[in-house]
Amino acid sequence: MSISLNDKYVSQFIPTNSYASIQDEVVEADRILRTGSGEGNAFLGWLNLPDNYDKEEFARIKECAKKIQSSAQVLIVIGIGGSYLGTRAVIEYLRSPLYNSLTKNTPEIYFAGHCISSNALNEALSLCEGKDVCINVISKSGTTTEPAVAFRVFRAYMEQRYGKEGAKERIFVTTDREKGTLKGFADQEGYQTFVVPDNVGGRFSVLTAVGLLPIAVAGIDIDAMMQGARDASHRYTDPDLAKNDCYRYAALRNILYRDGKAIEILASYEPFCAMLHEWWKQLYGESEGKDQKGIFPASVVFSTDLHSMGQYIQDGERILFETVLDIADTKSRFEIPNDPENIDGLNFLSGRELDEVKKLALQGTVLAHVDGGVPNIILEISERSEYVLGELLYFFELACAISGYLLKVNPFNQPGVESYKKNMFALLGKPGYEDLRKNLEERLKN
Ligand code: PA5
Repeated sequence: MSISLNDKYVSQFIPTNSYASIQDEVVEADRILRTGSGEGNAFLGWLNLPDNYDKEEFARIKECAKKIQSSAQVLIVIGIGGSYLGTRAVIEYLRSPLYNSLTKNTPEIYFAGHCISSNALNEALSLCEGKDVCINVISKSGTTTEPAVAFRVFRAYMEQRYGKEGAKERIFVTTDREKGTLKGFADQEGYQTFVVPDNVGGRFSVLTAVGLLPIAVAGIDIDAMMQGARDASHRYTDPDLAKNDCYRYAALRNILYRDGKAIEILASYEPFCAMLHEWWKQLYGESEGKDQKGIFPASVVFSTDLHSMGQYIQDGERILFETVLDIADTKSRFEIPNDPENIDGLNFLSGRELDEVKKLALQGTVLAHVDGGVPNIILEISERSEYVLGELLYFFELACAISGYLLKVNPFNQPGVESYKKNMFALLGKPGYEDLRKNLEERLKN
């Protein structure tokens, strides 16, 4: 098994019959998910995606990635939320958070349109200077303000630099098959397009063209990722909690939540996991945080954060549980050198692997946090690889859907995200929002 759930450090916090008491609910959550009879059933395309993905488009993605690799030193990926986080998470996890400084044979990849910052936009533009550039703009709706503004800027930049015809060869659009401003615009300008399937929501879309094109540009083996996801999709089908680690994760989260553990901290011991945490936070936060319910997803990278958040986790309010990613083989080794003079007193570590030190730090921290009253779910991951990451992405998506149905929310909508947009549009004076604008301006004055 490449991923296995160890619940040894949770059992003392939950009644012995916990799994039995929630088993029927899990069977029901599985039934409504797989029969498509639950809320949000128009967005279940991700469930069988690892088998049912568009093979013709997949081949086109690989071709296009090669074209970008051979014609650009910089790829700017424009998108936000589900059209951004998964891509960045995979590149940083499998290549490095320092990918752009370390890459030799594949283009540097920078992200734009994921914030409203003139600093960020100016910096992204300046990173293109003196280098050949391609753009991949990603927006399922094709109307999201942040990426739309960034695309307007980068399109003008590309046309000025390469001419209209030249820019056309360097701009790639990932959006809805038929609808949306971006699709209409791409067709009109003749840009090559890729599809975000109708039935796959943004935060579940990393294994579609949304993630796969830029991930392939980074030189990552997307066949292996899909194979991992496919194997995971076949493995986690039995709703029996004794046989399904993915469902057990979903069940444990709900068991702990019902006992007052309202915050889940995803903890890893590698900086390359930091963006994976961000992807996971969006997946769970946007899927479950609704109807005044939901576990708040937080994250830490240890041991760095043991020197900042460690105090709270050990000793603060007891409303937390942790899910720890324990990656056995990270594909890198470092032996701690000997110092004959032992000035720093560290010779007891001489000749030992840094990974061994990390493992012992993990074990010591788990025990300390458990002693402090924090349940720890351990996800043991065999190695850092394309295949296993594909499995892990699917594992989290499936667990999220089951967990959302256990929580009795619709895991596939995000009505709350609209509230800020409405207010922002009103304050910006977008036509159609006049009454709301008056109301908000009044409130801001008082
Ligand atoms: O998960 C989601 O649905 C959201 O985070 C969207 O991905 C995000 O709002 C961006 O939307 P779009 O791809 O339509 O620009």
